[in-house]
Amino acid sequence: MVAAKKGTCRICGDAITAFMSFGRMPIANGFLTEADLASEYFYELTPAFCAGCAAFQLIDPPPPQHLFHDRYPFFTSTSQLMVDHFSAFATSIAGHIADQRDPLVVEIGSNDGTMLEQLRRLGVRSVGVEPSRNVAEVARARGAETVDAFFDRDTAHRVRDSYGPAAAIVAANAICHIPDFNDLAAAVRQLLAPDGRFIFEDPYLGDMLRQNSYDQIYDEHVFMWSATAVARALDRHGLALIDVEAQPTHGGSMRYVCAHAGRAMPSSGVGALLERESRFGLTAPSTFDGFRLACEASAADFRSLLVSLAQHGKRVVGYAATSKSTTVLNYCDINPSLIECIVDSTPMKQGLLTPGSHIPVKSPEYFATDPPDYAVLFAWNHAREIFEKEQAFTRGGGKWISFVPALAILD
Ligand code: TMP
Ligand code: ZN
Repeated sequence: MVAAKKGTCRICGDAITAFMSFGRMPIANGFLTEADLASEYFYELTPAFCAGCAAFQLIDPPPPQHLFHDRYPFFTSTSQLMVDHFSAFATSIAGHIADQRDPLVVEIGSNDGTMLEQLRRLGVRSVGVEPSRNVAEVARARGAETVDAFFDRDTAHRVRDSYGPAAAIVAANAICHIPDFNDLAAAVRQLLAPDGRFIFEDPYLGDMLRQNSYDQIYDEHVFMWSATAVARALDRHGLALIDVEAQPTHGGSMRYVCAHAGRAMPSSGVGALLERESRFGLTAPSTFDGFRLACEASAADFRSLLVSLAQHGKRVVGYAATSKSTTVLNYCDINPSLIECIVDSTPMKQGLLTPGSHIPVKSPEYFATDPPDYAVLFAWNHAREIFEKEQAFTRGGGKWISFVPALAILD
């Protein structure tokens, strides 16, 4: 048996040990050409839970420069669900800062400017910080002010010098991507106005455990936050969690509203969630031994279903080449003999190969013109939008395979 990987907690500095290994993993959004295959980057995907501060985190993930660059292929606006979500999020943010004069909103990880555009529509002054240059350019082309940078203390200084303090610092599915949370919190503290709000949402640890959605674990998600871990991590920096709000996005997320410590009363929802997390084991290391067993069982079932379908001569296609699917495809050792291709609506992914598993990515038109017997729903978090779009597939006798929360064939 290989020894479990050891590391140091990124929040509190305690010694931590991985509770499992997903094995050798490529970059989750590292789609490749044939020519890229020889130099494909791999690392070992090893999640750990810190008993000291309750932070669920990866040990030794790849450096962010390997993940976010000028070929980043994820664009928020490819999903109507996400566009609608950002519109509602922008309205909520505007409500939080309504009593401030000419408030500034800074968005961390602003991607293609979907949220900045919604804020602008509401007449709110905003600027985004986005390290992936290609998506930042898309944002700027639609008129969203964007700084090309990783968000750290240095960037926070620059933003404050140019635009003044922030009434709100906001982020959606971005804070969990930042490996040095302590530096981030210090940067937030420096940029946030005295009565400002730091509002971020990320995939929620409780939802991952409840649904056994282990595909949430991949290089970009350095942390899977719980309210307990967020509250403890903020406390080290003079910041406080004052409200929480569950979100349906990304398969179950939590929105955290934070403020400078002592400047606002926490809502009753915070205490209730902390209590619920303790009751459901989100603060207990032993929970993750059970989770490991559930991951192993889920992967074995999924692989044996695909092997059996291949043996019966069935054609299986994947639907949506998501970053989450990289963990599933590689952990379950799936290759083009089990899934012939994956269709995805993102033009930049089409014509490339999936990371590690090297399955060709094609346009959804392929799915419509040459429908397979089965389609694996990798974007299970967009199920409704996809089922709506692909009604012809089911009408023609096609069946969907889902593996979250449990393996199921839907017809
Ligand atoms: P996400 O799960 O990280 O949001 O990624 C969604 C991926 O799914 C993205 O690559 C686009 C793709 N997708 C489709 O191909 N068709 C669809 O209808 C939707 C909603 C997403
Ligand atoms: Zn810790």
